[in-house]
Amino acid sequence: MAVLSKVYVKRRTRFFDWMQDGVAVFASWPVYPRNGDVEHPYRPDSDLHFLTGFDEPESAAVLVKKGQERRFLLFVRPRDPEMETWVGSRAGEEGAVRDFGADEAHPIGEFESRLGDLLTNQPCLYLSFGLHPDLDRKVLAIVERLKGEARRGICGPFRMIDPREFLRQARLVKDREEIGAVEKACDITRAGFEAAFRAVMPGMPERELQAVVEFEFRRRGADRVSFETICAGGAHATTLHYIRNDGLLRDGDLVLLDAGAEVAMASGDITRTFPVNGRFSRVQRRVYEWVLQAQAAAIEAIRPGATYAQVHQAALEVLVEGLRDLKVLRGKTSELIETGAYRPYFMHRIGHWLGMDVHDVGPYFVDGASIPLQAGMVMTVEPGLYFADRQDVPRPLRGIGIRIEDDVLVTPRGRRVLTEGLPKTVDEIEKVLARPGAWWGEVRPLARES
Ligand code: GLY
Ligand code: MN
Ligand code: MN
Repeated sequence: MAVLSKVYVKRRTRFFDWMQDGVAVFASWPVYPRNGDVEHPYRPDSDLHFLTGFDEPESAAVLVKKGQERRFLLFVRPRDPEMETWVGSRAGEEGAVRDFGADEAHPIGEFESRLGDLLTNQPCLYLSFGLHPDLDRKVLAIVERLKGEARRGICGPFRMIDPREFLRQARLVKDREEIGAVEKACDITRAGFEAAFRAVMPGMPERELQAVVEFEFRRRGADRVSFETICAGGAHATTLHYIRNDGLLRDGDLVLLDAGAEVAMASGDITRTFPVNGRFSRVQRRVYEWVLQAQAAAIEAIRPGATYAQVHQAALEVLVEGLRDLKVLRGKTSELIETGAYRPYFMHRIGHWLGMDVHDVGPYFVDGASIPLQAGMVMTVEPGLYFADRQDVPRPLRGIGIRIEDDVLVTPRGRRVLTEGLPKTVDEIEKVLARPGAWWGEVRPLARES
């Protein structure tokens, strides 16, 4: 079994242990047309990958449990020499059994007809309702048909459960394999930023810097970006998810670069904000130092048992101090926090879970209370201050947007910053930027194993 890794068996076992007798269905995302006969790049479904490692489009997994009996079925694109000539090889049914450990595999074209048999007389159906409305309709039609055959002694499942109740928890506290993949994604992401630091020059198009960071991701093995790169020069940085990247990086401006490599279905997610010409101005430095201090306070607050809300609060208190120091807000810090007066300048939360999805699954609240952190969780820590060009903002601050983001693993004794080592303090950044554009003269093919 070349591809089969024990991790998928282990994860399926956990899922089987959690589920009641019945049938669980997981389907791939559809392939979306882009234009003409071109398709959007296919990205496997995270839950399907988590449980099977099977990443081909037009596929589905079915898990069947009856007491101790457990069956894993894969529905896949059948081998097709002509299609494979055009778009590459497929595992086919044989490969699905041999390489992915399926007990049975069938052509995806038989999925609906076989599902009727699989669901017959089953007490419980597991389906991520709402995710694939077409699939919901088809599956519910099958369930209704089965219930209509009661006189023939046939029954369909009466209980329906969303398997994400389990999966969001299972994916929130990562196993060793997923942590390894996230570490790799973080390493590649960090390398992309190292290239960007050395490549940036005044006058450069935002897209060119985007290309540099993504070039470095790709050549280091990234499968794709984990989200659209944000490369925001000057006031563009005050738009939180600015992805147009069609402006210029100007002398005297900062650039906010927020990017992530995805590899082995795991995401990195880093933001650095740095001066295009290599030197922070006084006012840029003042804002930057506050954001940096807020990030340090939040990272310091991360440990098992601390809550997500406490991590957010640690950063918020520093940011509000900063807003007072910068004469954006007046009054007592506690009141400014209570009234939300800071929100025009810090309008998002401190971070998000990170894993297979860049905004990974997992609850943030349990029974209405902020979730306590546990070893094995990974979160981003990304405070920011954003000053749009508005009357309420002191003139020298207008058009400054600063975010600093790192990825942090909760460990049994505290935390480990997975993106550690990337320049972040003012001095570190000015040092790495000391020779603007140096990268262009230095970039070489990576050393390859011969
Ligand atoms: N890049 C999106 C985020 O940081 O959440
Ligand atoms: Mn980000
Ligand atoms: Mn993020």
